[in-house]
Amino acid sequence: MRPDSLAARYLRFARTEARGRSAIYEILARHVAQSPRVLAFLDRLPPDRQQPNLLFAAMRLVAGTPASPDAFDAAIADQAEAIAGIMRTRTTQTNEPGRCAVLLPALARIEGPLALIEVGASAGLCLLPDAYGYDWGHQTLAPPERFTASAPVLACAATPNTPLPSRHPEIVWRAGLDLNPLDASKDEDVAWLEHLIWPEHHERLARLRKAIAIARSERPRVEAGDLRRDLPDLIAAAPRDATVVVFHTAVLSYVAQQHDRDAFAESMMNDPRVFWLSNESPRVFPRSAAAAGQVHDDMFLLTGNGEPLAWTGPHGQEIRWLW
Ligand SMILES: C[S@@+](CC[C@H](N)C(=O)[O-])C[C@H]1O[C@@H](n2cnc3c(N)ncnc32)[C@H](O)[C@@H]1O
Repeated sequence: MRPDSLAARYLRFARTEARGRSAIYEILARHVAQSPRVLAFLDRLPPDRQQPNLLFAAMRLVAGTPASPDAFDAAIADQAEAIAGIMRTRTTQTNEPGRCAVLLPALARIEGPLALIEVGASAGLCLLPDAYGYDWGHQTLAPPERFTASAPVLACAATPNTPLPSRHPEIVWRAGLDLNPLDASKDEDVAWLEHLIWPEHHERLARLRKAIAIARSERPRVEAGDLRRDLPDLIAAAPRDATVVVFHTAVLSYVAQQHDRDAFAESMMNDPRVFWLSNESPRVFPRSAAAAGQVHDDMFLLTGNGEPLAWTGPHGQEIRWLW
């Protein structure tokens, strides 16, 4: 990407993503946008390795969180190779267990027992919705007894019409698929997941750590593969007497071509064994978004078999059921 378009990208990130969510990322992104030296550093990386989230997470992993643009420049000057090395080998794979709080109302409506398949599972933390506790404001669901002491309790503001479950779904089998599965039992993968969380988001970091502790004991299986190619084998491996639920959250925007997304959606809709749950930006499936009425660009749209169900907070912090 040309340095001037890179600058525009970092400015857009500062304005539309970081503002109000991370003061330090907003400051740093504005700084990058006007720094010829940092733009030249980014320009030497492949175009798909130049994103703000990747740069900032790599920098924090290597050099700690810079408190100011001067500290940022010092880290780039002293550790450019180490930072670039992380940016070349890692991708943005934020795994947000909080999203289970918006998936659970939809999962609870599907007749069980369930065989869960998550595409784009990262470390598989969203494959464990039956291990966590929930606090939807006017209703709570305690974690199962064996996880009481350790489970995160996921806070999510739910509108009064949201059909909230009073028990966890029965999940008899689960598996994930990811281009690059992360392993919650490996310290270097955990360190990367932790640094993908933005600096001021202390609650998210705390619940990530709790979910990782559970994943270390439960070891959800996540296989390497591409959702456009490798899903049929996983579906075939699911037990015949369970309802197969294929779901994804914050994944399909990584599939660049709309026709690939649409082909995936069609294959889900045409598979009689599968109930398909999608929790994605409304830009991913514009037709579903149009059917949901007024579009909320800063939220995700939860759909079941292509039908809009709810608008959701991107980290699972909110659910507004539609009907
Ligand atoms: C932002 S993370 C979301 C992880 C998890 N779904 C969550 O909500 O916490 C997106 C994940 O999708 C994976 N991914 C992207 N494109 C994929 C594809 N074509 N097939 C399988 N996984 C993919 C990435 O490797 C990454 O781990």
